[in-house]
Amino acid sequence: MTNNSNKVNIAMLASGTGSNVLNFINYFRIHSRIKIALVISNKPDAQVLKKAEMLNVPSVYIEKAKWNDPKYLLDIFKKHNIDFIVLAGFLSLVPAFLIQEYPNKIVNIHPALLPKFGGKGMYGMNVHKAVIDSKEDKSGISIHYVNEEYDKGRIIFQASLFVSANDTPETLAKKVQKLEHEHYPRVIEGLF
Ligand code: GRF
Repeated sequence: MTNNSNKVNIAMLASGTGSNVLNFINYFRIHSRIKIALVISNKPDAQVLKKAEMLNVPSVYIEKAKWNDPKYLLDIFKKHNIDFIVLAGFLSLVPAFLIQEYPNKIVNIHPALLPKFGGKGMYGMNVHKAVIDSKEDKSGISIHYVNEEYDKGRIIFQASLFVSANDTPETLAKKVQKLEHEHYPRVIEGLF
C-alpha cells in the first residue's frame, strides 16, 4: 500500500459492458483492505462508464492518443492514489511505461485456458468460437499478470469447466462469465 488511506486503491481498465467491473464494485463496496477507486475506459460510449457513474465510483474516458502520453496518464493514476490495476475486457495493449510504473501490479483476466486461445485478436466471442471450432472439451478462465505482450504474463490462477457437445459460443460465453464473476474478485483479494 502506497497511498495515505489504509486501503489498496484499485483502478479498473475496461472497454465494454463491464460486468466484471460491476461485480468488483459490488464485491469490494464494503471491504476493509481494498477499494475500487477508479474506472478507466478507452471507449467514450462504453457501458462500463455509466455503470461506474451510477455506483458513484470515479470514472474517466481516456482517448487513444493520450495512452501514449506518460505524464498525462500517470498523473491520473497519481491523482487517484492508484496502487494496483485490474483489467476486465480492456481491448488495447497496456503501454510499457505503465507496466514499468506498476511492476507486477497489473492483472488481466482471459476467458480461456491460456496459453491456448490467447494473443492479439483473441477476445470476446472470438475466443469462444475458436474453442468450439477446435472441439475442446474444456475451457475456463486465466488470471495473469500483464506484460508487454497480449496474454503472456505469469499466470496466477486458472479455473476450468467442461464444454459440452451442445455448447455454442454464446452458451460457453455465459458459463465462462459465471466463472469469472465467481473467482476474479476473490483472486485479487487474495493478493493482499
Ligand atoms: C471477459 O470475458 C474477460 O475475460 C475479457 O473480457 C470480458 C469482459 O467482460 N478479458 P465484461 O465487460 O466484464 O462483461
